[in-house]
Amino acid sequence: PHTAPSVLDDEFLQDPYVHYARMRENDPTRRVKTVTGMPVWLVTRYADAKAALTDQRLRKDYREIRRVMDNKAAEEGAEHPDIGDAVQAHMLNMDPPDHTRLRKLVVKAFTARRVEALRPRVEEITRELLDDMAARAAEGETEIDLLDAFAFPLPIRVICELLGVPEDRRDDFRTWSNNVVSGKDPRAAEHAAAAMAEYLLELIETKRTHPGEDLLTGLIESSEDSDRLQGNELVAMVFLLLVAGHETTVNLIGNGTLALLDSPDQHEKLRTEPERAAKVVEEALRFDGPVNLATLRFTSEPVTVGEVEIPEGELVLVSLASANRDEDRFPDAQRFDQDRATGGHLAFGHGIHFCVGAPLARLEGEIALRQLSERFPNMTLAVPREELRYRFSTLMRGLERLPVTPA
Ligand code: HEM
Repeated sequence: PHTAPSVLDDEFLQDPYVHYARMRENDPTRRVKTVTGMPVWLVTRYADAKAALTDQRLRKDYREIRRVMDNKAAEEGAEHPDIGDAVQAHMLNMDPPDHTRLRKLVVKAFTARRVEALRPRVEEITRELLDDMAARAAEGETEIDLLDAFAFPLPIRVICELLGVPEDRRDDFRTWSNNVVSGKDPRAAEHAAAAMAEYLLELIETKRTHPGEDLLTGLIESSEDSDRLQGNELVAMVFLLLVAGHETTVNLIGNGTLALLDSPDQHEKLRTEPERAAKVVEEALRFDGPVNLATLRFTSEPVTVGEVEIPEGELVLVSLASANRDEDRFPDAQRFDQDRATGGHLAFGHGIHFCVGAPLARLEGEIALRQLSERFPNMTLAVPREELRYRFSTLMRGLERLPVTPA
C-alpha cells in the first residue's frame, strides 16, 4: 500500500524517480489519481511502456477521451478542463486514419536532412544568446536564470522562424502554453486555450495575406484542400508545433545542464571533447527527459499490461521517465553516464506518435550543450542545489528556474 503514489501531486513530481523505482518493483501498473481527482492507470516498467505505446487498443481520439473523462467526472467527482476543439484537433489527439493524414503534412519539414540544413542558423542564435549572457556576466551579474536567458528563447526562436511567425507575443505564449499543459487548474487551462486560439487565428489571417517560404504558409495552402486539413485542424497543428517548441526542448537543455553540473566528471568529459555533445544529449533524454508521462490514452477494450488487466474505458498514462530508469533495460539506470548505450530510450515516445520534432530537438540540444560548455566551462549553480524546484506539470518535467554563474 505504501509502495506507490496515490496522487500525482507536487510532492510526487518533485522527485518522481524514487516513487517509480518502488512501483516498478512492487506495483508496476496501478490506478492513481491526478491532482484534479481524475483516475488514471500509471504504467512504469520499460517493457510494458513500450508495448502499451504500440497497442492499437489504447487510443487517443480527443472526442472519445472527453467522453471517458466526462464519465469519470460523473462517477468520481473529478474535474477536467474543456479546452475546446480549436486547439485539440491535432495529430497527437487522433488515431489513424486522421492521424496518418495530419502527420504526413509536416513530417517532411522535420526529416534529418531538412533539419541538418538549419544547423548554421541554430548555431548563430545559440551564439547570440550566449553573447548576451556573457555581457551580463561581464557587468557583474553572478546569478542568471539559464532557462530564461537561454534554454527558453533558443527553441522558441527556432520554431518561430521555421513556422514563419513573429515572436513578439512569446511571453504571453509561454504563460498560456504552461497553463494548458500543467494539469493543475482546469479553469486556467480553458482561458489560456481560448486566448491561444484567438491569437493563432489572427496569426493565420496575417500569414494568408503575407505568405512566405515557411511551414505555416505551406500548411495554409494545404488547408485550402479539404482532403488535407479540415475545420480546426490548421489552428490545432500550429498550436501543437508551438507548444512542443515551448514545453520540451527548454527542459532538455535545463535538465541536461543540471545533470552535468551534478556530475563534474561527466561535465569534464564534454569540456575536453565537445564533439561528445550528441551523446550527452541522448543520455540526458534517457536520464531526465522533458516528458515524464506520455499524453493520455484510453482503453477501447480490456487490455492486459504486464500482469494487470485494465478494463475498457479507462485512462492510461505511460511513464516515459520511469521506463527510461528501468534497471531491467538500462543497467545502473539511476546513474548519468554519457558513454552508456542509450538506444531504445523512450524520451520521444514510441510507435506511430513518436515525436515528429525529434531531429530538431536533438540538433538544438547538441548545439546548446556544446556551446554552453565551450563558452562557460566553469559555470556553477548560483543557488544551493536543494533550492531547485520543478514546475508543477503532470506530464512535463522541467525546473522552475536554473540560476547559474557563468564563468
Ligand atoms: C510527440 C517528446 C520536441 C513535435 C511527442 C511525444 C513525445 C515527445 C514523448 C509522443 C507523446 C505521446 O505519444 O503521448 C519530445 C521531446 C522533445 C520534443 C522530449 C524535446 C527534447 C519537439 C519539437 C517539436 C515536436 C521541437 C516540433 C517542432 C511533436 C509532434 C508530436 C510529438 C508534432 C506528435 C506526433 C504524433 O502524434 O504523431 N514528442 N518532443 N516535439 N512531438 Fe515532440
